[in-house]
Amino acid sequence: MNIGIDKISFFTPHLCLDMAELAEARNVDPNKYLIGIGQSKMAVIPPTQDVVSMAANAADKILTPEDKEQIDMVLFATESGIDNSKSGAVYLQRLLGLKHQVRVVELKQACYTATAAIHFAHGHIAMNPDSKVLVIGADNARYGLATKGEPTQGGGAVAMLISRDPQILAIQDDATYWADDVMDFWRPLGFDEALVDGKYSTNVYLEFFKHVFKEYQDNTGFDISKFDAMLFHLPYTKEGFKALKIAIEDADPTVAARLTHEFENVRRYSNQIGNLYTGSLYLGLLSLLENSTDLKAGMRLGLYSYGSGAQGEFYSGLLRPGFDQNIEHEAFQKVLDARKQLSVAEYEDVYNSRIKISDKTRKLDISTDPAKFVFAGVEDYQRQYVVK
Ligand code: HMG
Repeated sequence: MNIGIDKISFFTPHLCLDMAELAEARNVDPNKYLIGIGQSKMAVIPPTQDVVSMAANAADKILTPEDKEQIDMVLFATESGIDNSKSGAVYLQRLLGLKHQVRVVELKQACYTATAAIHFAHGHIAMNPDSKVLVIGADNARYGLATKGEPTQGGGAVAMLISRDPQILAIQDDATYWADDVMDFWRPLGFDEALVDGKYSTNVYLEFFKHVFKEYQDNTGFDISKFDAMLFHLPYTKEGFKALKIAIEDADPTVAARLTHEFENVRRYSNQIGNLYTGSLYLGLLSLLENSTDLKAGMRLGLYSYGSGAQGEFYSGLLRPGFDQNIEHEAFQKVLDARKQLSVAEYEDVYNSRIKISDKTRKLDISTDPAKFVFAGVEDYQRQYVVK
């Protein structure tokens, strides 16, 4: 039975920042951000969006009444959780109008978890072929203002519907994974921003890729020529490019050129959004689907998932017949182009205005946020969501 990604959608808020302007404000050569990091724009998350509202905005676009009837599990992958006890998934049950006969869970292992969720969903559907699972990867990637991590911020939510006979990608049973307890990036309880050993984290990411990709090749006997596109977790697009270079080191020049060409389609949206943490790898999938003109049913995509702390995984998926039927060419580019570009001062104001853990009751002005689902503030520490 083929099981995999039946539908995929993405949401990022209506605000962004130009990376060249940020570089100027930080007295950095703009080419460091544009070329060295590989980012042209960065999503800015207003206080009126959190992981729950962003997830609802993403999922709402793809779910039909029939899907809602069949979804019996919601797996919410995030490392920007809004509660230590209540899962983001349970808010979605109400906001999206899902039935009550549903399992709702939040999962955490840094940026890796949407991949874990896909595999858990795969197992669930293998045992319950008529069910569908909603997988969310939603995050707000925050470092400090004027820190080295600042140009690698971003945020948004990817929603994926996992089912049998999927329309888009059949997940293959070929994953290799590698875990090790390392301190490359973490966020202690109560901290709003991540702590990171930046250079070390970039090396661990690449080392884990080497481990899992070698084991994958040893297990399957597949070499790099078996892949039609390679997708990577993209904390910033240059990091994925470095992993690609490792993968194609010994490749035939035609294969290397093809994979390098497709990687430009993979990273196109991330280049204008920044790090998404859990959703990043799958934004690359959407970007590839909407921007490549060479994809065909049956092609094999390689996916490298990485979450600091750390967990790496490599697996593959096969494009399904008719995978492009509901995919509109460059559709999301129009959404990105319509965003409001903030000045650096405005971005800093937005950065500093989010709800804090200590806010017991605070109402947010939701009038300027055009999204359907918004976070309206807290009342007696209870989060308030509004459907416009
Ligand atoms: P940095 O020290 O500011 O940057 O930190 P740098 O000095 O290393 O420069 C970056 C690149 O720009 C270098 O290229 C420079 O040569 C180049 P590289 O050596 O890497 O090829 N450069 C220029 N290029 C063109 N023109 C110029 C110029 N100047 C310099 N004028 C760092 C960069 C990424 C470390 C920092 O932003 C950071 O700490 N970011 C956060 C951590 C991160 O993203 N790590 C990635 C791997 S870990 C991961 O993916 C997990 C994560 O997503 C979290 C999770 O799992 O939950 C982060």
